[in-house]
Amino acid sequence: MRKLEGGATRDELRAEGTTAAVIDASFTVDEGQIFVVMGLSGSGKSTLLRMLNGLLEPTAGSVRFDGQDLTTLSPKELRRVRSQKISMVFQHFALFPHRSVLENAAYGLEVQGVPKAERQKRAHEALELAGLKGWEKSWPDELSGGMQQRVGLARALATDADLLLMDESFSALDPLIRRDMQDQLLELQKTLKKTIVFITHDLNEAMRLGDRIAVMRDGRVVQNGTAEDILVRPSNDYVASFIQDVDRTRVLTAGAIMTDVASVLGGKDADGTEMSTAERFRAAAPATVTEDTPLVDLFAPCSASTVPVAVVDAADELVGAVPTQRLLAVLGEAEADTAPAAGVPAQPTSADAKPEAKQPEDKQPEDAKPADVTPEDKQPEDAKPTDVTPEDAEPADAKPTDADAVEKSGDDTTGDGKSADDKTGDDKPADGSKVIAGA
Ligand SMILES: Nc1ncnc2c1ncn2[C@@H]1O[C@H](COP(=O)(O)OP(=O)(O)OP(=O)(O)O)[C@@H](O)[C@H]1O
Ligand SMILES: [Mg+2]
Repeated sequence: MRKLEGGATRDELRAEGTTAAVIDASFTVDEGQIFVVMGLSGSGKSTLLRMLNGLLEPTAGSVRFDGQDLTTLSPKELRRVRSQKISMVFQHFALFPHRSVLENAAYGLEVQGVPKAERQKRAHEALELAGLKGWEKSWPDELSGGMQQRVGLARALATDADLLLMDESFSALDPLIRRDMQDQLLELQKTLKKTIVFITHDLNEAMRLGDRIAVMRDGRVVQNGTAEDILVRPSNDYVASFIQDVDRTRVLTAGAIMTDVASVLGGKDADGTEMSTAERFRAAAPATVTEDTPLVDLFAPCSASTVPVAVVDAADELVGAVPTQRLLAVLGEAEADTAPAAGVPAQPTSADAKPEAKQPEDKQPEDAKPADVTPEDKQPEDAKPTDVTPEDAEPADAKPTDADAVEKSGDDTTGDGKSADDKTGDDKPADGSKVIAGA
């Protein structure tokens, strides 16, 4: 810690045999937000997540959740918080192979001691939310990978926890299924409004899902902002190189690049008449779009007229204008280099923006071992629910089990490689970690 505070780098510590997995990561996750943590393999994402649910204790700093500092709780209190208020969705599903879909979905409730009839009812509801109505009696190995992960999602939703932690939850799914799951999550989030911390190494996924995105590198959060912040104002060369292939026309929105209405007044409409008022401008505009309209949808109207496109807010109030030159300038700047576009105001990004980003790296995390749940965790059908949850079983502790088989059958991975430079074989346990987080 002292060395880190004194400015030592992760590599310097590593040379001495210590891995600082997460360093000086301070951020806040607001209620109802999807907060994405993105970074390459070994950047510290999973370590960070395990500190958020108290499975790992930070070496320094605090983790505040719901008014409590998790680092000060007793193991028993922590388990209670974890079973009642936090749900986890794993990359490799972590289903019990010998339990039906319904029983898997009800598992978290069983741990909470919810009576059977009620937990089955709630598990039914959660499965329906996750799109698995009618599959309750099936066994996990009868389901495709995507469907198994829906069970994982249903299990997390069934407990009605406020905080959902999702570690590469969609990374094992093939691209189309993955996209479906992203859509489903966004759709569910509209009504459920959970607080979600979603880990991914996929920029495309981060931009689609994240209300905010924290980019991690070598244990540090190098940028924390909206998708637009990151695209338009990358905090350093690393982030800039990460995002260079993102299709900005699908992530940036009219609201992010619009100019003041005042700046277009006085211009001429298509007939050469001066647009002296906002009303005249709006009437003359080739199109009126909302602030969250992606730039890709502005090209057609912009090319159809010399009058800027009008931008309105949710209440249909005129809030700005996008002149063609502005549209081209923003994209031109991005083309020229990845330097921040001058004067582009920060705006929240539409979660619906659909960037077609080329992924800097699409790989399977090495340390995510197949079985998050071991048979030891499984209790006889009539046993009293215990404190052991899938969350308690860290991937590193996982032993090869039957769950392995489930894993493999559902493991439709993208067949990706992994970056060698971010990982070394001789890493020691996380040592210099400091996390201050809250939800
Ligand atoms: N239990 C452990 N023992 C030793 N080293 C560890 C342990 N857990 C994490 N590390 C090291 O800490 C660093 C961060 O690991 P972490 O698993 O948090 O990364 P990650 O961003 O989740 O990577 P991935 O995308 O591969 O899952 C890595 O260098 C890793 O090797
Ligand atoms: Mg990980």
